[in-house]
Amino acid sequence: MVRFLMVVSLLLSSCLPAWSQQGGRDNSPVSFIRDVAPIFKENCFGCHGAKNPKGKLDMTKIEALRKGGTKDDPIVPGKPDESHLVDVLKASDASRMPPRETGDALPAAKIAVIERWISQGAKIDSELTPSTDIVKELRRRWTPPAPLEKYSYPVQMTALAFSPDGKSLVASGHHELTIWDTESGKLTGRLKTRSRRAMALTFLPDGMLVAGGGRPGEEGDVSVYNLKAAPAKTIDGVAWFDGVSDAKVLVRRLLETDDEVQCLALSTDGKSLAAGGCDRMIHLWDLSPGIAGAKLLQSIENHADWVFGVAFSADGKRLASASRDKTAKLWDITAKESLLTFPDHQNPVFGVALKSDGKLGYSAGEDRQIRSWTITTDQGAKQAKTMAGHNGPILKLIQHSKNPWLITASADNSVRLWNADTAAVMKTMAGHTDHVLSIAVSPEGSTLASGSYNGEIRLWKIPDGTAIRDFSGSPGQQLASTTTPAPKK
Ligand code: HEC
Repeated sequence: MVRFLMVVSLLLSSCLPAWSQQGGRDNSPVSFIRDVAPIFKENCFGCHGAKNPKGKLDMTKIEALRKGGTKDDPIVPGKPDESHLVDVLKASDASRMPPRETGDALPAAKIAVIERWISQGAKIDSELTPSTDIVKELRRRWTPPAPLEKYSYPVQMTALAFSPDGKSLVASGHHELTIWDTESGKLTGRLKTRSRRAMALTFLPDGMLVAGGGRPGEEGDVSVYNLKAAPAKTIDGVAWFDGVSDAKVLVRRLLETDDEVQCLALSTDGKSLAAGGCDRMIHLWDLSPGIAGAKLLQSIENHADWVFGVAFSADGKRLASASRDKTAKLWDITAKESLLTFPDHQNPVFGVALKSDGKLGYSAGEDRQIRSWTITTDQGAKQAKTMAGHNGPILKLIQHSKNPWLITASADNSVRLWNADTAAVMKTMAGHTDHVLSIAVSPEGSTLASGSYNGEIRLWKIPDGTAIRDFSGSPGQQLASTTTPAPKK
């Protein structure tokens, strides 16, 4: 055995290039954007981004990195040993980057890549310029994976929407939207998306589907899809749409942003669209020219943290919002100003709604209650009533389109229907076996769909609350137990 190893090592040493025998160093060419930029993005951009960078060092553009921060250019091309950037990566004292209190040092292999890049001249790839936004460039180069034929685990049901004819239900999948027949619970369509998941879905009056979502911490988008376009293929009755590169399916990308979009709202007249998300912004579009001509009207920065919910007033002139900053707020769209803030939740607020007469707002969240508040712009928001009953955070709050009903989805695994006028619970719909993340009401108003963390979709009759049917929202997965029999054909 020992002799065999000796032979192998002799063979190896005679085959390897000279530099390798001397220093044991790999010197294959390093591409900045392919090899180095992802390391910077993952480990450094959190503190050395374009906004308020630590040590005044913005690493998101080569020209900014090479300008240095409070110190000079941290890179000496060709000389990793003289580069401050390498010093801080290898330091064992308080100067180490990333700072010791926030985690481990970079693995030696990653430091070696950065050193090699510097020793090869710290060059950037020919298609880049020193002013290229590295975050955007990495995003541009990222391509989504193809959806799996069959899921090996259930996907969280983060968003649901009924089609305008009520016959289909669209659900969030893994890098796709899945389309289900509401009568049979069968999968009928799959639409590949760049977004890893949809957090909000809404159909426009003309039948186009708007999806808001993204990849947490990476990117967010609001995209418009045409489900009436020709599918790329149809296999076993399932139509496959390409919402990534087929321009007839992906009709428009209304928004591309740096973090996930969490919520969407469409005004009653269908002419205004609002989206909120983890970039703390609310974006507002005028859809009256049609989707091709839709225009971004306002980008509202009114919350100090993620925006989880948005809702228009019936007249479309005001917009309510719910945020992780523990407040619900009301925005005057015409005057472009904040009208009031409702602070009483003292916990993250996940959903918001406005009464049709415009006199009351409703919000709900981590504190397990719906709170209603009077809208008097001279006195701010005053709490009117609380609606308690859920035994866990309320993760979604929506308003019924035709009746004065509120519908909530909770981490207590239930869905509740409330009479907003009397503040009483009308029905508790139990049956989900995990947190309920999403709810949607059919266009005619009598069917409710709910989706859970463990991938179940359940359909209910409202207002009586009887279970209609349930099925897994993940292609190829079955529910462990079903409470309602599949319809007989
Ligand atoms: C958790 C936040 C954090 C992370 C992550 C972080 N840094 Fe820093 N960095 C700082 C702070 C704070 C300073 C300023 C320290 C000082 O001035 O004493 C700094 C300063 C620096 C400086 C000196 C800048 C100057 O001109 O003063 C360099 C170089 C640097 N960091 C490189 C990196 C690299 C490379 C990474 C990723 C591998 C990284 N940092 C990750 C917080 C961070």
